[in-house]
Amino acid sequence: MRNDRKKRKRLQQTKCKEDEALNAVSVRIQKEAIQKDRFLALARKYYLKWRQVNEAHKTLQSKANNLSMSSRFGTNPRLFLPQSTISDKNIPEISRCHLMAPKDKDGKDTTVHLGHGVFGKCEKMFYKGIPVAIKLYNNLSSIQDIRREADVMARCSHPSIPHIFGVNLTQKPYFLVSYFYGINNCTKSCTLYHALRSPTITLTKYCAGKIMLELCQALQHLHLKQLLHRDIKSDNILLTTLHTGFHPMLIDFGKSIEVSEAISKKKCLSAHEQDDYRKKYRHIAPEIILGQPPSFASDLFSFGVVMSDVSGNIPFELCFFEGQRKCLEEDPKLRCSVSYLLNQLETNASLCNK
Ligand SMILES: Nc1ncnc2c1ncn2[C@@H]1O[C@H](COP(=O)(O)OP(=O)(O)OP(=O)(O)O)[C@@H](O)[C@H]1O
Ligand SMILES: [Mg+2]
Repeated sequence: MRNDRKKRKRLQQTKCKEDEALNAVSVRIQKEAIQKDRFLALARKYYLKWRQVNEAHKTLQSKANNLSMSSRFGTNPRLFLPQSTISDKNIPEISRCHLMAPKDKDGKDTTVHLGHGVFGKCEKMFYKGIPVAIKLYNNLSSIQDIRREADVMARCSHPSIPHIFGVNLTQKPYFLVSYFYGINNCTKSCTLYHALRSPTITLTKYCAGKIMLELCQALQHLHLKQLLHRDIKSDNILLTTLHTGFHPMLIDFGKSIEVSEAISKKKCLSAHEQDDYRKKYRHIAPEIILGQPPSFASDLFSFGVVMSDVSGNIPFELCFFEGQRKCLEEDPKLRCSVSYLLNQLETNASLCNK
């Protein structure tokens, strides 16, 4: 009898334990089901978001492709795709001891100053017997800035863009070495700004038209490489003499950037600063002063200012003025493309030649 009772009690205890275990399992299953639902809802939410983003990306890409196809700047879709920043090309390092100063009449070393600006000064020297222009930087330029300037020059290969020999970035003052472009036997260089004001230099209608045409070809070369000059003005154009007459050189790539970096170069100026900027930097496009990023169109505006400097002195054909007018449009969207301008300048050159 007692044994029976004990047996029943034990059975009851094991049943209780089994019930508890069952309860625990069902609670766990319930919890897991709730969690599964939560994860499913989250997955659905993120999937929908991903689809939205993906679709937006696709429409943007197709818009970019359409734009590039109908673009004034040609059919290169790369214009609208993310670009790499300027590459770190292998530009030779030139040691100071390989540079020789020009000599005076007595055979003594002299310094020939070519010019100076905000970022340093320029001197004429000789490198392996070749006349070169040494751009010596002050402390305002970082190694990165100088490397960028050198890299832009090294990436270009055009008769109106200076040949770069190398840089020195190991010992201050850092410098950049490029071929020296001068006029005849003159030891100094001559900018277009000076040529237009010089009583001894006469630019004929044909010669000035040819200079502008060759400069425009250099600009097209730069733009096709996805590069912006950002400082086109008559001080940054040199004249050199060839057997065919004057030949222009576009210089000073200190502000040049890849078009993909343009957005990071937006200016933020107060109304007062904007007024100052307009007076001081006539060659800078109006939209840049208002805070828009630089563009191919803003380079064309600066080019238009150079054209107006030249046409102020020399009579040109109508198509020259038409190109100039289109470059100087206030609205960058209304400005002409570099290829349109090239066409106008070619027509002008052929008319001047008649
Ligand atoms: N390759 C060259 N050959 C001959 N002269 C040169 C050459 N490069 C530069 N120069 C001369 O040095 C001057 C200054 O050069 P550059 O414009 O590159 O310097 P910069 O310091 O950036 O000047 P800025 O700040 O005034 O624009 C030019 O105006 C020109 O007279
Ligand atoms: Mg300059």
